Amino acid sequence: MLIEISNKKLQDTPSDAKIIFVIDKNLSHRWIEDKEELELLGFKSENEEATFINTHKIIYVGCESLEADNIRLACAKALECIKKTNIKTLTIGTYSHNCPGINIKAMAEGFVLGSYVFNAYKTNKEAFKIEKITICLEDYEQVDVSMQTANKALHVGKTIAEVTNLAKEIINITPQDMTPLALANEALKLASLPNVTCKVMDKEFLEEKGMNAFLAVNRASVHPPKLIHLIYKPENAIKKIIYVGKGLTYDSGGLSLKPSEHMVTMKADKSGGAAVLAILKGAALLELPFEVHAIIGATENMIGGDAYKPDDVLKAKNGKTIEVRNTDAEGRLVLADCLGYAQEFKPDLLIDMATLTGACVVALGEFTTGVMGHSDELKSSLLGAASKSGELGAVLPFNKYLKKLLKSSVADMSNISSSRYGGAITAGLFLDNFIDDENKDKWLHLDIAGPAYLEKAWGYNQCGASGAGVRMNLYWMIEESKK
Ligand code: BES
Ligand code: ZN
Ligand code: ZN
Repeated sequence: MLIEISNKKLQDTPSDAKIIFVIDKNLSHRWIEDKEELELLGFKSENEEATFINTHKIIYVGCESLEADNIRLACAKALECIKKTNIKTLTIGTYSHNCPGINIKAMAEGFVLGSYVFNAYKTNKEAFKIEKITICLEDYEQVDVSMQTANKALHVGKTIAEVTNLAKEIINITPQDMTPLALANEALKLASLPNVTCKVMDKEFLEEKGMNAFLAVNRASVHPPKLIHLIYKPENAIKKIIYVGKGLTYDSGGLSLKPSEHMVTMKADKSGGAAVLAILKGAALLELPFEVHAIIGATENMIGGDAYKPDDVLKAKNGKTIEVRNTDAEGRLVLADCLGYAQEFKPDLLIDMATLTGACVVALGEFTTGVMGHSDELKSSLLGAASKSGELGAVLPFNKYLKKLLKSSVADMSNISSSRYGGAITAGLFLDNFIDDENKDKWLHLDIAGPAYLEKAWGYNQCGASGAGVRMNLYWMIEESKK
């Protein structure tokens, strides 16, 4: 699907169909050529409403305001509305006089995100028929924007959405295919980009480094673990941002086995890993002025004679001992060691992303990422970017009482809390034990267990993986690069 900018008028650009946003509730705007038909159809001009009127070859899409996220939604819904037709080319205006760049970026994101289909395992692949979308700089009003500004906005929006779709694809691939080795191969592919390198470390490396918590989680799996380390290092780097992702290619729960209904979807337990990979690719394609690292702890959590057990005590890379009381709290064990490894590279900012706890989904619902850390400034700047990107996030606050719940009578800490409440925060506080003092204020923990994987489509997100966390972080880096 090609998206292009044209400096011609919308009315003068030929296409199979035009997309018109209906912002005005009473359908009186002069761009609306089918008022009577729309009234007959009961069109309410609400978000997520779209209808194709054949007479004038127009797709009318409800758009409650020209906020970026409503634009994304409207563009995605326009594509959905015509997916069964044979329409191949589309045109749309920019709906802006002041800052068309923002609308163009949101349009590109909406079209690209909305066009994603997961059909790797379907015999009859649903063909996506749209070949070309032309965004016309002049719709019915004259817009003062240069082709260069418009094309830049298109490039940024398209890139952000394309790497989000890459994360979705990696996550949606089944655990039999997307093994730690396969995930490492996905990462190695990125090394062909300018300024990007990728190293993949094996079990022997983890043993040498004393990453015993990570190794314990891997023990019962037939697939060896991989520690994946991607680096994008441009010449003009102003800061070093290190991302760490939980890459559980499958989480059966281990000996603390998950009940069957909770095990389904656990292929998505690699969502943090896929997200950090996609973020690194986005940063490289957008040539952002940061040195970005993506470190992924890739393994399965399985059962077997060699499985690690509740009652085991593990010594993590930083020397701290952990009493295992539940083998299903495995993500934090992998992350503990990966965070230790990450800090060897002296980050200016350290961000981990993980589908870490069901408790986070209980606390915030399925749509929202839990944001934790010690620096209020960092948390609020990320949340600001999240909201611009169309992702939802909320702070889950640490406190010293919850921290005490991780005490163990046999080791330095337990891998689970002694209380059934506050599980997302106690998981974050567990990770805090592996953050060195000098990095406390540089660290953020993002629990994406809720939004990473959808069993029902919402907004412009299809059923399945959503690529949660990718857009908010790229928006955030873009904002930071302007400071
Ligand atoms: N991968 C799960 C968390 C999860 C749950 C992700 C639901 C996505 C959707 C994690 O490894 C896990 O099992 N956590 C346990 C922790 C508990 C044993 C303290 C949980 O949330 O139940
Ligand atoms: Zn688990
Ligand atoms: Zn898990």
